[in-house]
Parts: sequence; structure tokens; C-alpha cells
Amino acid sequence: MMPQVDLEVRALALQAWLCADPLEKALAARTLQNDWVQGRLSLSLSLTLSQTLGQTLAQQSLNAADLVTPGRPVRPRLVAAGNVPNRPANSAAGRMALMHAIAHIEFNAIDLALDAIWRFDGMPQAYYADWVLVADEEAQHFLLVCEWLAEQGASYGDCDAHDGLWQMAARTAHDPIARMALVPSVLEARGLDATPMIQERLRRNAKDLRNARDLSAVATIESALTILDRILNDEIGHVRIGRQWFEWLCAQAGLAPETTFDALMETFNAPWPKPPVNRTARLAAGFTEAQLDRFSQADRPSAHSGRGKLSVQPT
Ligand SMILES: [Fe+2]
Repeated sequence: MMPQVDLEVRALALQAWLCADPLEKALAARTLQNDWVQGRLSLSLSLTLSQTLGQTLAQQSLNAADLVTPGRPVRPRLVAAGNVPNRPANSAAGRMALMHAIAHIEFNAIDLALDAIWRFDGMPQAYYADWVLVADEEAQHFLLVCEWLAEQGASYGDCDAHDGLWQMAARTAHDPIARMALVPSVLEARGLDATPMIQERLRRNAKDLRNARDLSAVATIESALTILDRILNDEIGHVRIGRQWFEWLCAQAGLAPETTFDALMETFNAPWPKPPVNRTARLAAGFTEAQLDRFSQADRPSAHSGRGKLSVQPT
């Protein structure tokens, strides 16, 4: 018997993905995980994508053409990556803009995890369980950053933002192997490299402010650093989950993961990691020493064309 749409995990993930209100979306992702671990949701492994869409869209009067991008708020205004202003950490406004950028990344990361749940059928139950957990953790990150912004009198939507992460999500919507390779292990893994550098800038800024006896500003930076610690730690797990499912899909298809990964990087013109890479975090996320040696090279071994074509941000 077909499960009821309001209790089926993939249909609920699609509903949350369609939700345009950031707070509602984040809370829906949190509820999804809570209901899942409490055993209140069903997962029909035989439910195809078209059945999931049919049930959910029938409720919401949408059609498949609406499913290119997830539900989003009117603000922030989305602009080209090059038009997002620089974010120097040495001013309150700069720190606010920096954390707003992190909020935007986390908001997109919720949708990336939800998308992995509803869009790809025929995966094992553990796959859906993993991405339900990731969606919840991304929602927690988003809510933590929004709370920080609120303490500074700001909110998500106050600054312009860009759409870089979703470009690759849209391009890999038809292919779970490409999605699992290129979003977690390329785009999201970039966050493992970038977050410590952001934290270092903030720490230097806090040191200057401490010397200037601006202890209130120091406290806001320290709370931002705590949030970034949490994000970095969780993202190691998210990248690892993506890598594991990429390797599982390769095994199912009889493909060698490493050469398949390189081929996908070429095919999708994906950005090669920009040195220096965070070896400790990437090793914890499942990269091999040999892969990291290649990533640490100043130039890509072959086909340099991918570098810089897509915006790469931490999640
Ligand atoms: Fe995150």
C-alpha cells in the first residue's frame, strides 16, 4: 500500500525543499530528522521520483518545470558572485556581511540535502537516513548563524548573495553519481579549506579589538568562531557521507571511484581545489593522501579549464 504523502520521508523532503520561507524550511528540515528517528515516517523504497512528485505536486498545484530551483525568499537578492561585496572582518559591518554569506551558504546546504533525498530514487534506506541527518544539521547551522545576525540587529536577506552552489546542483540533477562526486567532495569540501582561514581572520581581528578594549566586539567574534567550529566539525561528516555514497554508486556501476571522479571533474568543468587544502579535515572526511597530494599541486594535472568557473564556498 502506498504510504500517505504527509508521512513519507521523500515527499516531506520535497515539501520542505519547495518551502520559500527560510525559517519554515529550516524548521521543516529539523522536524524531518526528529520524526525520522522517532519512527514516525515511512520510506517507500519503491516510490519513484515521478510518484513522489505526483503526490506532492498534486497537493501544491505545481508542475515539474517548477523543480529546477528550490523555494527561496524574495530577499536576499541574488547577484553574480563577482558583485557580492568584499567582506573585511575588521569592521562590525564587514563581520555582519561575512556571517550573512555563511547564512546563505547554510540555507543552500539545507536545500542540497533535501534535494539529495527527494530527487534520487532507488537508493538504500541508509542513504536517505544520512541525508535527512545532513539536512537537519545544515538547518541547525542556518539557525545558529541567523541567531548571531539577530544579536547584531540584522537578519538573513539584508545583504546581496550569490547562487554559485546551486549551479552545480542543477547541472547534476539527472545523475546521482555526478551529484555525490561534485557537490559534497568539490563544492562542500571547499568549506573545509576556507573555514579555518575565515576563522584566522576573525581571530586576528579579535586580538586588535581586545587591545583596543572593545570587549563587546570581541564577544561577538568569539561567538561567531564557536559557530564556525561547529560548522566545520559537522561538514567533515557531510563530505564523508557524500564520498561514501559516491563510492557506493561507483561500486554498483562497476566504476573505479578515482578515475570516475576525475572524469566527472572534466565533464562538468568543476573547479579544482584551490591550495592550500585542509589536509586534516579532508583526511577525516575520507580523502586519501594521494588525492590530497594532487589537490595540493598548484596546477591541475590535466585540463586546467575548470578552475574558477564556479563559485566555491564553505557550507
Ligand atoms: Fe552546514
